[in-house]
Amino acid sequence: MITIKSTISAKIAEILKTINADAAIEAETVREMLEYPPDEKMGDLALPCFKLSKLLRMAPVKIAATIAESFEADCVERAEALNGYFNIYLSGAYLAGKVVGEVAEKGEKYGAPTEMGQGKTVVLDYSSPNVAKPFHIGHLGTTVIGHSLKKLHEFAGYKCVGINYLGDWGTQFGKLIVAYHKWGNAEAIEAGGVDALVELYVKINNAINDDPALADEARAEFRKLEDGDEENIKLWRWFVDISLAEYQKTYKQLGIEFDSYKGESFYTDKMPAQVQKLRDMGLLKIDDGASIVDLEPYGMTPCLILKRDGSTLYPTRDIAAAVYRKETYDFDKMIYVTSAGQSLHFAQWFKVVELMGYEWFDKLVHVPYGTVSINGEKLATRTGNVILLRDLFAESIAKVESIMKEKNPDLPDMDKVSEAVGVGAIVFYYLSNNRIRDINFMMEDALSFEGNTGPYVQYTYARTCSVLAKSPELDMNAELSVTTADETALLKTLSRFEEVVREAIAAYEPSIVTRYILDVAGAYNRFYHNCSILGAENEQIRNTRLALTRAAQTVLGNAFGLICLAKTEKI
Ligand code: ARG
Repeated sequence: MITIKSTISAKIAEILKTINADAAIEAETVREMLEYPPDEKMGDLALPCFKLSKLLRMAPVKIAATIAESFEADCVERAEALNGYFNIYLSGAYLAGKVVGEVAEKGEKYGAPTEMGQGKTVVLDYSSPNVAKPFHIGHLGTTVIGHSLKKLHEFAGYKCVGINYLGDWGTQFGKLIVAYHKWGNAEAIEAGGVDALVELYVKINNAINDDPALADEARAEFRKLEDGDEENIKLWRWFVDISLAEYQKTYKQLGIEFDSYKGESFYTDKMPAQVQKLRDMGLLKIDDGASIVDLEPYGMTPCLILKRDGSTLYPTRDIAAAVYRKETYDFDKMIYVTSAGQSLHFAQWFKVVELMGYEWFDKLVHVPYGTVSINGEKLATRTGNVILLRDLFAESIAKVESIMKEKNPDLPDMDKVSEAVGVGAIVFYYLSNNRIRDINFMMEDALSFEGNTGPYVQYTYARTCSVLAKSPELDMNAELSVTTADETALLKTLSRFEEVVREAIAAYEPSIVTRYILDVAGAYNRFYHNCSILGAENEQIRNTRLALTRAAQTVLGNAFGLICLAKTEKI
C-alpha cells in the first residue's frame, strides 16, 4: 500500500501543479493527507481537499472535481469527487498482482520495512524478573511487549540486543541467606526450585515483621555477599541459577530467547565511576545524609544516588548499566519496558544522564504499560498471594486441551497444539489492548474460539494450511483473475501490512499488529465462506484463490511472529 499511495500522490501532485504551480505541493505532502475512509463505500483511499483549499486558493469541491477530471492510474479502478473529497477505489486485479507477486518474492520478509533499521542497533531491556521472587502475571506485560518490540525491530532490519536485566542483587539475598541457614535444606530446594525459594522468602519476611533484629542479620549477610564472602557468593549463585532455570521454562513456552542475562549484580563495580563523575560535575547534593540529584527545575522529585550508608540504589545501577551498554553496543535506541509505576524512575534517571552530558540521553525510551488483574483479582506481591505466569499458562493449556479433546479428538500432537494455543490465547488477549490500559483478564474470553481471540486467529491460520495442503498445484506466477468483492477486500487488507508494522514500531504498540491480525483473519474467513476455492469455476480462478490463501497464510504467519504467537498448522 505504501508504493500504491506514493504512485497516487505523485499523480495528484502533478494535477495540483496545473491548478497553482506556486503552491508547490509535494507528492509527499499529498501522501500524508491520504486517508482510509471509515466506510468502504466512500472508497479505499480518500483525499480531503479542504486541507488544500487555502494553499491553492480554490474551493475544496472544485479541487476534488479538477483532480477527478484528469486522474488516471493503473492501480485505481475508479475515482470520483464527492463533497470536497477525492475518493479512490483500487483495482482488485492490480492489487492481486502486486500482493501475490511480493509474497512470492519476499515470503517471510513480506511486510518488512527492511530499510528502516539498516545499520542501526536497538537494545531492549525487558522481562527482568527479580530473582527468588515469584514470576507472576505482572511480568506478562514486560515480557511479551518487550519481545514483540524486539521482533518488530528485527523485522524492520534493526540489529537487536535483548537484555534480561535480572534483579539478581540486593538485600533480598541477605534475607534469603538468613532464611536458608534457619530453615533451608539443600535437597528440598533442589527439588522445589524457585517455589521453595519463594517460600523461604515469604517466611523470612513474616519473621522480620515479628522480630526486626532479623532484618539486621539479613543486612549483615548481604554486606558479606557484597564483600565477596565465598560461602555467600556460592549460595547467591545457586539461588540465581535455580530461579533462572524456572524462568527459562516460561520463556521457552513463549519462544523467547535473550541475548544477554547481565543482571543488576553485573554493574556493582561499574557504579563508582558514575558516582564520581556526578560528584566531579557538582551534580550531587547531600540531603539528610543521602546523595541526590536535585531535579526540581525539571518538575521532578530528586533522583536518589546513594543512601545514607553509602550504598547504591536502583537509579545508580540503571545509569551505570546505560553507560556500559552504550560503550558495548553503541545503540541507536535503547528501550525499557516496565509497568507504568516505574515511569518517574525512568524520567528521573534519563534526566540525570542528560545532565551528566551524555549526548545519547535522547536515545533512551521508556515504554510503560498498565496493570493486570485476573477475573477481577488484584495482585499482592509481598504476601506471596500472586498468580504465577507458569500457573496461568498451565491452566489455559489444560482448558484448551479439554476443548480439543471434545472438538477434535484425533488431532495429532495434541500436547504441542494445546500448549501453542493455550499460551497463544493469553498472549493474544493481553496484546489486544493498548499497552497503557489497565486490563482485567477474563480467562473465559481469552479461550473462546469464536471471539476476537488467539484460538480464533490460530484456527484461521490452520485453515489456510489445510486448504493449501490439498492443493500442491498452486502457481504463484500464473496470471490471476479476481472476480469478487471479498477477494478485493482481502487483498486490500493484506497490502496494508507494511504500514501496520511501521505504525506499531513508531508507537511502540504491539496491539496495532494484534488488531491487524484480526482484520486479516476476518477478511480471509469472509472470503473463505463466500468464495469456493477448491471448487472454483475454472482453473485460473481456483489458482487465484489459492494464491490469495497463500498470501493470507504468509501475512498471518509473519504477523504471528511479531507478537510471540505460534503458527499452528493443525488445530
Ligand atoms: N527488576 C525490575 C522489576 O521487576 C525491572 C527492571 C527494569 N529494567 C531496568 N533497567 N530498570 O521491577
